[in-house]
Amino acid sequence: MPDDKNTLTITDNRTGQTYTLPVEKGTIRAMDLRKIKTGPEDFGLMTYDPAFMNTASCRSAITYIDGDRGILRYRGYPIEVLAEHCTFLEVCYLLLFGELPTETQLKDWEYEVTHHTMLHESTKKFMEGFRYDAHPMVMFVSTVAALSSVYPESRNVHDPVIRMHQIKRLIGKVPSIAAMSYRHSVGFPYVYPDNDLTYPENFMNMLWKMVEPKYAANPVIARALDILFILHADHEQNCSANAMRAVGSSLADPYLATSSAAAALSGPLHGGANEEVLRMLDEIGTKANIPAYIAKVKDGKCKLMGFGHRIYKNYDPRAKIIKWTADRVFEVTGHNPKLEIALELERIALQDEYFIQRKLYPNVDFYSGIMYQAMGFRPEMFTVLFAIPRTCGWLAQWQELLSDPEQKIARPRQVWIGHETREFVPMEKRSPAPVGAR
Ligand code: SDX
Repeated sequence: MPDDKNTLTITDNRTGQTYTLPVEKGTIRAMDLRKIKTGPEDFGLMTYDPAFMNTASCRSAITYIDGDRGILRYRGYPIEVLAEHCTFLEVCYLLLFGELPTETQLKDWEYEVTHHTMLHESTKKFMEGFRYDAHPMVMFVSTVAALSSVYPESRNVHDPVIRMHQIKRLIGKVPSIAAMSYRHSVGFPYVYPDNDLTYPENFMNMLWKMVEPKYAANPVIARALDILFILHADHEQNCSANAMRAVGSSLADPYLATSSAAAALSGPLHGGANEEVLRMLDEIGTKANIPAYIAKVKDGKCKLMGFGHRIYKNYDPRAKIIKWTADRVFEVTGHNPKLEIALELERIALQDEYFIQRKLYPNVDFYSGIMYQAMGFRPEMFTVLFAIPRTCGWLAQWQELLSDPEQKIARPRQVWIGHETREFVPMEKRSPAPVGAR
């Protein structure tokens, strides 16, 4: 039990009653509020928190963010250090197992994941069912879910061995699915994985190999992709992680849960923002048009895509690393002229009271799309490039959920604002409800 100092005393002025609730890690338990009643019939107090602006849904040891100080750490290691010294698969190991792997552990892990990159041949037929212009993110979400039919044993979510087997399969296969969705969208034949290659090189191989006997990945691009995968691997209880945990809490299998998380990521306010940033930069067109666009944003007519964050009220540390990585990529691919517009947009926005007052800074999506485009990716692929590495983070969150004794099926309450009981109205006595009635 916490000591007396770590408590909150609440007086309910409706009854004059006083309650003392324990405070643990800066929180009170919402269930403790249920003691606060106006009488024996009263259900007790709940919290009302649309979009969970101030609600902790779980206790986690995976990713720590300090939004005011622009700090991001995976299992205690600063993102800057991991991006500089690790590979993405090494960071996956850290996120899932809680510690950096030894050389042997990493080699075994890489071998395991690499030997799960193949997709069941039926997946090709499944992919063929999409129209030529299907959005790659739709193909990704659907195909990940379809893997549930290939691995029915994955429903045994309480078996740690079966869980880990699916985790290796998912981390190994998401690049293959992503590459397949790209090849389908451009009408190219699928390229099978090449297990001699590293994780990013193999992804590039499946995306871009044509008729050459062996794909040779550009090392600068491969390393840039690996760094981008590290930066996007996890981000604590964001919208898609919340979806993963909610669906996982019903004990759905990890393929269906991951598909639901990817669906959440696809929204333009979340992972879909990187695609929207490119469309915004295209709309702006030239530096001269920036002031007019900023005025539109300040009039509330549109958002500055790639800016703002629920947690970061300072610069997103990932955006800084992406900017650094972009310069390395442009040395190889040639400059992306959109970078000048983005830099000027950032410069103007960061001086403007509207953005300063709202603590709006570039987030992870602001520069990533410019780099992806320079690498040769079309905007429709940008969110898929986010979903590939985030699959590891979603699975780490899923594992933590299933091993947390306090967790059970997610089922929020509501504040009732509808009708009280009403008399039934027979058909002949009904009149059309006013348009827009809720
Ligand atoms: C990701 O949660 C995560 O961790 C997500 C993520 C991850 O790694 O998983 O970091 C990845 O999703 C990054 C965010 C990508 N989305 C965008 O870039 C879309 C543009 N950004 C906004 O839609 C917004 O900033 C959000 C969605 C990111 C955050 O929204 P919040 O926290 O709900 O903030 P809000 O909408 O309440 O905004 C507060 C104020 C409002 O103004 P007022 O009503 O007070 O006048 O700031 C304004 C908003 O209108 N505002 C913006 C803005 N973002 C917020 N105004 C213009 N442009 C923006 N981008």
